[in-house]
Amino acid sequence: MSHDDIAFHLPPAPRDIPAAPAGPAPTMVPLTIDGRAVEVPSGATLIDACAALDITVPTLCYLKTLTPVNACRMCVVEVEGARVLAPACSRQVEPGMVVKTRSPRVNLSRKMVLELLGSSVDLSTAPGLAEMMAEYDARPERFHQSLTSAPSVSSAALASESASSASSAALGESASSAALGDSASSASSVALGDSASSASSVALASSASSASLAAGSVSVASVAQPVKVDNDLYVRDYGKCILCYKCVEACGTDAQHTFAIAVAGRGFNAHISTELDVPLPDSACVYCGNCIAVCPTGALMATPEFELRKAGEWRPETQAVTDTICPYCGVGCTLTVHVQDQQIVKVTSPFDNDVTRGNLCVKGRFGFEYVNRT
Ligand code: SF4
Ligand code: SF4
Ligand code: FES
Repeated sequence: MSHDDIAFHLPPAPRDIPAAPAGPAPTMVPLTIDGRAVEVPSGATLIDACAALDITVPTLCYLKTLTPVNACRMCVVEVEGARVLAPACSRQVEPGMVVKTRSPRVNLSRKMVLELLGSSVDLSTAPGLAEMMAEYDARPERFHQSLTSAPSVSSAALASESASSASSAALGESASSAALGDSASSASSVALGDSASSASSVALASSASSASLAAGSVSVASVAQPVKVDNDLYVRDYGKCILCYKCVEACGTDAQHTFAIAVAGRGFNAHISTELDVPLPDSACVYCGNCIAVCPTGALMATPEFELRKAGEWRPETQAVTDTICPYCGVGCTLTVHVQDQQIVKVTSPFDNDVTRGNLCVKGRFGFEYVNRT
């Protein structure tokens, strides 16, 4: 017996990475969308089925990497036989569904969502919002007019079922009643009531009576407030927040599991807050910036971008965008580096990456200054 016969030999390395055995084939669900037949696996959502037909559904609070929360109602579609419009981002397909994605009712509802958001939130840095406003002929200013000159106009013009359901989801119960309420008094109680007297950090319309509302001396309630600049890495401008919950999900169970932020308050007072509203450096935040990555409006923004925008020097159209690998640790996350004037001005990560799904840690997202200095 030779030494070779008793020596241990490593088994040959597999040629392919072993895969889990295939499960049962998913049941296919047939349905019709905008008159076209499609089959998608059971468990798919209406937005998945629309994507299979190359039908784009507008969204604000939806992101494939996050659990749908149905906060904005921008994605609503009409399902034949259903009483209310369905959020395509979370409603699962059912056999035989007949769906319309651009019916007059759907369009009106989306228009209302955009108008309610536009009348109360600064959407100036929200990518794609201006195009959506134009597409749906959204005119947020008509809410300003209805409150400042003729309060009763809002109920006459806006009392529609679809609009009501859309608005309540988009801005919370109080906001919707302000915009869609039956009377001037309901609007005034929201715009001027609890919110104005509370100690909330959300800045709302100044206190005034319903008499002064009728007299046309009241400004429209908005979420405008000073920008929070309390750390070196990113700023929080909640005057641009549409309460889509994405940052809360990214900070919580969907990605980071840090739970540094949550929604506090009710109705129009609802706002994103650290624990007890403490400044970010005193909170549980670990500065991963995953909340910035998912924010659809620019309410959360890395400091270099914020400063460049303030100086009027933010020029995304001139930026070179390159994927590379993070140099800091062995995980090797994919970084997307945005370079303007030979300086890295922002780092993101692709959402369709199986490992990181758009998420990074503080080093990968913010640790690029050493490159700019060399
Ligand atoms: S930076 Fe990270 S830890 Fe801090 S609030 Fe955002 S998601 Fe949470
Ligand atoms: S800060 Fe941004 S991500 Fe968070 S709720 Fe507001 S809009 Fe959504
Ligand atoms: S995208 Fe579906 S509810 Fe916001």
